[in-house]
Amino acid sequence: MTLLQLPDEPESLWLNTVKLPEFPKLEDNMKTDVVIVGGGITGITAAYLLSKEKINVVLIEAGKILTGTTGHTTAKITAQHDLIYDELIQHFDEEKARKYYEAAVEAKELIHSIIKEHQIDCDFKEEDAYIFTNSEEYQQKLETEMQAYEQLNIKGELTDSIKLPIPVKSALIMKNQAQFHPLKYLKTLVEKCVENGVRLYENTAAKDIEYNKHPAVITEDGKRIISKYIISASHFPFYDKQSFYFARMYPERSYLIGFKTDKEYPGGMYISAESPTRSIRHASINGENLWLVGGENHKTGQGKSTLEHYENLKQFVEKHFSAKEIVYRWSAQDYTTIDKIPYIGPITESEEHVLVATGYRKWGMTNGTIAAKICADIILNKESAYSELYSPARFHADPDVKKFIQINADVAKHLIKGKLDFSDDKLKHLQHDDAVITRINGKRTGIYKGKNNQLYAVDTTCTHLGCEVEWNSGDRTWDCPCHGSRFSITGEVINGPAKEPLKRYEWNESS
Ligand code: FES
Repeated sequence: MTLLQLPDEPESLWLNTVKLPEFPKLEDNMKTDVVIVGGGITGITAAYLLSKEKINVVLIEAGKILTGTTGHTTAKITAQHDLIYDELIQHFDEEKARKYYEAAVEAKELIHSIIKEHQIDCDFKEEDAYIFTNSEEYQQKLETEMQAYEQLNIKGELTDSIKLPIPVKSALIMKNQAQFHPLKYLKTLVEKCVENGVRLYENTAAKDIEYNKHPAVITEDGKRIISKYIISASHFPFYDKQSFYFARMYPERSYLIGFKTDKEYPGGMYISAESPTRSIRHASINGENLWLVGGENHKTGQGKSTLEHYENLKQFVEKHFSAKEIVYRWSAQDYTTIDKIPYIGPITESEEHVLVATGYRKWGMTNGTIAAKICADIILNKESAYSELYSPARFHADPDVKKFIQINADVAKHLIKGKLDFSDDKLKHLQHDDAVITRINGKRTGIYKGKNNQLYAVDTTCTHLGCEVEWNSGDRTWDCPCHGSRFSITGEVINGPAKEPLKRYEWNESS
């Protein structure tokens, strides 16, 4: 067994192998038909679909386009979203479960048709998708899921072996799914958007929406973009007036490593049914044979040191695969809604011109694409077969109420625990490239010691609703366990819902 090293820095394979175009910061007030907030797969696809129909679009992105969750995905294009179809039949009904499947299939077909239309070289490849298990309990669940496939006419099959060298008792196959290089695909869509007249701006964060005759997005710098429609495609909605999205979803992080091997990949895309999740696919980059292994999902800001999650993936790879070298490690964050179906459509019942798309449960390639299609259909006044299923206005007594109480009880627990949980003496032994939480002048303070031994101190109280952030060693960020806000070592917002940075303290050794 070879002992492998993890790369020192997190870096996404997709972002490292594509040069993305750059766009200016918004400096002026504007008017347009549609303003899209967020430059990930949802925002870019919606801008592409709308601009093709001669709709004027302005797209703004708080950071750099495609560098958020879309740049950190596993990039599976599949309707096999874990074990979901039996659950949807039980909690909703057969018709809604079928619609969910059809929406994912339509998303895959839309991606494929765009690739064919523009002859995009993005390593698109059809593969069968597998959910595998090595547990008897989950074997039974796979059988129940297979019955749901039959009920919904989904082409599937149970098998008792897979071609990967890992122990399995059984696996459920969904035929003819796909994978690709998401940023090669989306880079072309960005180029098409520019050709169609879409105006894109980076480093332009949306802060609020104001209403006059038409709604207007107000940016952090006070610029105003007046439009007929707004699409909030910013991962977590940037605008949350009285709609409480933060209480209707919970954030999870997941991890991926990419390694080189001489072994030929046997085909297929895989995910384990049980925890800890193991998600496996292949990528061929510039002739290089890379295997990607992901998983280790956990709620943001909760659980063990995040570096341990990469370690666990590394140990899994060492045990089962003949890896030569781990060349990438990266992580991603996504939100899961109370009933596991994304929120896509008018953000509240009274704000029909403000559309939201969020809560993709780590299946962003298909969910993000169908979200873009649904939002574009609403704006183009076309019927969408899926708008009711995804409507953010839905609220079902079961299982929503239980889950709602559970999510928010968990938040309350972290509000209290965070306030009590601190350590003084660890500061003395703080190593470089590590962080500690301590109390300075009575205030809970997070201190990171850089590689050059410089100290960076922040107030650990999250600026969203006051939970206490925790250190994420794998990504060197401060993460909030309540609703998933993330902050840099100097306190800047990386992911909302928080909009304001953590308070930063000037620090010297005598502080
Ligand atoms: Fe809501 Fe931190 S993200 S309190």
